[in-house]
Amino acid sequence: MTVWDSLKLDGCRALVTGGSRGLGLEMARALGEAGAELVLVGRDAAQLETARADLAATCAAPISLLPADLNDPAAAEGMCQRALAEFDPVDILVNNVGGRRINVPTEELTLSDWQRIVDLNLTQAFLCTRLIGGAMLKRRRGRVINVASISALVAGKQMRGRAYETTKAALAMFTKCVAADWAPYGVTVNAIAPGTFLTDANRRWIRERPELREEIEGTIPMGRLGEPREIGALALYLASDASSYMTGSLVVIDGGRLLW
Ligand SMILES: NC(=O)c1ccc[n+]([C@@H]2O[C@H](COP(=O)([O-])OP(=O)(O)OC[C@H]3O[C@@H](n4cnc5c(N)ncnc54)[C@H](OP(=O)(O)O)[C@@H]3O)[C@@H](O)[C@H]2O)c1
Repeated sequence: MTVWDSLKLDGCRALVTGGSRGLGLEMARALGEAGAELVLVGRDAAQLETARADLAATCAAPISLLPADLNDPAAAEGMCQRALAEFDPVDILVNNVGGRRINVPTEELTLSDWQRIVDLNLTQAFLCTRLIGGAMLKRRRGRVINVASISALVAGKQMRGRAYETTKAALAMFTKCVAADWAPYGVTVNAIAPGTFLTDANRRWIRERPELREEIEGTIPMGRLGEPREIGALALYLASDASSYMTGSLVVIDGGRLLW
């Protein structure tokens, strides 16, 4: 097998949560271009359709859509049951949904807001891993990729909403523990820790406050933010046979941001 062959995903099925926009869309594109059938999860059905049309230009295998709000644990569980019923087997699970959403200091953070971020960044990833990842064990083969953040490793400067850092750190540790448990079953579990990428939301934010771009870029040795497409090949590596000896890793992709 050549190294190129080890990156091919023909005959595999990948489920990408939050696959309709941003980093999830670009990871889905990479897996789809390598030959995987795709199942995209998001809340907005119209946005999922837009993503499917976009991906279909370069992804030949079927692309299916599963609308669901994963912030609600019951809905997340329901999505997993549907995925297992309609799209079995799922060979690759990308737990990408997550976000900060709340930007208030800890002394003002309400329990319900805290719980909402725990559910958004952690509980749904646990449920998808338990149900969809768990179904991989009997096949003795599978890939789980969790999207954490460099915020799992450092506190964001001039930011609030510390449930974000806390839950991303927990997701990174969850990755390691499950990787150890599932290694004997041939199921690898790895995590990606992105720095700041120019997703649509971040582009809007920077447009509204242009002074921030220079400030953020000044903290990155490469001197620029990431393009969403730059995460695709890393996801493909972790999803494919190319990463056969890698499990429990947290792979930082941040233009060198954590070096200073
Ligand atoms: N962007 C960055 O610079 C950056 C940096 C570090 C880490 N990350 C992490 O990378 C992941 C993706 O970030 P992103 O910036 O690409 O996010 P994004 O642009 O906000 O995209 C989020 C995706 O998730 C879906 N989504 C959001 N909430 C959902 C929910 N409750 N249920 C189901 N689907 C939901 C969205 O579709 P709908 O809105 O239609 O539901 C969309 O497809 C997150 O875990 C984030 O924490 C991002």
